[in-house]
Amino acid sequence: MDVEEALAIVGAALKPDSLHKLHEILFRQAWEGKSYEEIANCFSYDVGHVKNVGSQLWKKLSCALGKRVTKANFRCVLYRYGEMQYLQQQLTVQQESDKTLIKPNFCPNQDWEELIDVSYFYGRTTELATLEQWITKENCRLITLLGMGGIGKTALSVKLAQQLQGEFEYIIWHSLRYALPVEEKLRKIWQFLFNNQYIARDVNEEITDLISFFQEHRCLLILDHIESIFQGGELVGKYGQGYEAYGELFNRMGEALSKSCLVLTSREKPREVSLLEGKILPVRCLQLSGLQLGEISHLFKAKGTFSALASDWEIMEKYYAGNPLILKMLATQIEELFDGNVSDFIFLLERGKVTFENIYELLEGQVNRCSDWEREVLYWLAVNRRSVTLLELQEDIFSWETQQKLPVILMSLERRSLIFKTPFGFTLIPFIRDYIVNLIVKVITQEIKDNQKKLIYLIRLFQPQASAEIKAEQISLILEPIVANLLREFHSFKQLKLHLENLRSEMRSHISKLLGYGVINIIYLKKVAVLSNSKIQLVANTPYRKPIADDISYYSH
Ligand SMILES: Nc1ncnc2c1ncn2[C@@H]1O[C@H](COP(=O)(O)OP(=O)(O)O)[C@@H](O)[C@H]1O
Ligand SMILES: [Mg+2]
Repeated sequence: MDVEEALAIVGAALKPDSLHKLHEILFRQAWEGKSYEEIANCFSYDVGHVKNVGSQLWKKLSCALGKRVTKANFRCVLYRYGEMQYLQQQLTVQQESDKTLIKPNFCPNQDWEELIDVSYFYGRTTELATLEQWITKENCRLITLLGMGGIGKTALSVKLAQQLQGEFEYIIWHSLRYALPVEEKLRKIWQFLFNNQYIARDVNEEITDLISFFQEHRCLLILDHIESIFQGGELVGKYGQGYEAYGELFNRMGEALSKSCLVLTSREKPREVSLLEGKILPVRCLQLSGLQLGEISHLFKAKGTFSALASDWEIMEKYYAGNPLILKMLATQIEELFDGNVSDFIFLLERGKVTFENIYELLEGQVNRCSDWEREVLYWLAVNRRSVTLLELQEDIFSWETQQKLPVILMSLERRSLIFKTPFGFTLIPFIRDYIVNLIVKVITQEIKDNQKKLIYLIRLFQPQASAEIKAEQISLILEPIVANLLREFHSFKQLKLHLENLRSEMRSHISKLLGYGVINIIYLKKVAVLSNSKIQLVANTPYRKPIADDISYYSH
């Protein structure tokens, strides 16, 4: 803020014509940090008079701004006041645009279990229009908003409920974050619908009654976060013990004719939904993708001041798939660690030199919920670093059981929004891929250190047939970090080499294990260890890595 902007604020805050010439002179000089004596000397006034005028001015400003203003704090007060005004303006613009969305036909009875702030909400106009069309024009009765954690399902569901207020008699927004058993959830819903008059009865009866109520009254029931009621460690969509009745509720909502609509938000698609959904059927799914380029920079601007090239935003959008939660976490970290310079962050990101634990924690939760088969396939997709077809994967995968189940596993991973399909096959979103690669590095290091071999047999850490670029990445992002970790553990190259040689002989002596990738992986790792020890600079540059990749490929044939 400069003195002209500050004067504009003062002018707008005070009554018209209450700022006299001497007030303005004094204000400008005080802004420069001049003392009353200096001002008086400079403009040939009496010091006492200048002080009186100053005290008048600060008093007027104190009254106008509702805060004690003095010569010592007036700059600070005006900065804050200016900032508050700016935020207020933004909010008013947002509220005005919200008002145009809400149709005041009804004032529905509303039950908001949590109040989620969506005043800073960007984009999603197409999604909101599609959902409104499905609900109001096509009478869909069961809709699932699907997407990975942080993609914006909850925020969108709240926005949707706000937008549809004029359409429903009742709006109920509840969360299943804490996995409330169905009996308790139904009790809460009944208590709201019947003003706390609730008679406990059999769950099936309660569901039947609820559906009858929904047939008579137009209700929008939103259940957020329903992945909490699914079992972890299983293929997607299996209900946890005691939660099966939710499946019954979803199924009957999907099948029964109704004036009402049940909207679910989930990271995983419920089985009933898979069975009942269809493009022109009243049961639908909306798979959420991330925010778009312009919206991402808005998200950042709401957090602070950032400098970035247009290409930086594009990289961010692709790498993080426009995930608003992750982008918000990043904005905070880029502001703190890089003084808001997005290009500096991208520079490190592209070289695999920056990871943020809180982002990885978010992914950890989602990957941990997967079954062992799914994790094995995630590892393969991460090592491949490109889209691969089901057949290509089937050829690579060592475990017979995983090979057999592969179509179901891929479908399950897709329903968890962890992988997606391209015209060339299945692949991972880049930041998830890098997380899985880090996981592979950690697990394999630990396995070699503890001589507990499992993953090292299951996946191939280096693919001699891959393109030069992918091979270079497999070396720099998988093999080298494992070797570097191991060198720290074993203290000397000699000891590490000996350990790897012992491991290899041991693996060779187990006939059955020879079929896995254990031996070949140890050969790759030993080769990389030898090359790093021979002081060949393994720089992060593809052309330099090419001879190394060729060398390893040759060595391993
Ligand atoms: N369209 C959007 N504009 C701005 N912020 C958003 C938007 N969608 C989501 N967010 C923010 O991103 C974060 C994650 O969103 P949330 O709806 O909780 O994701 P999910 O439910 O998919 O895990 C929240 O802080 C939310 O406010
Ligand atoms: Mg959510």
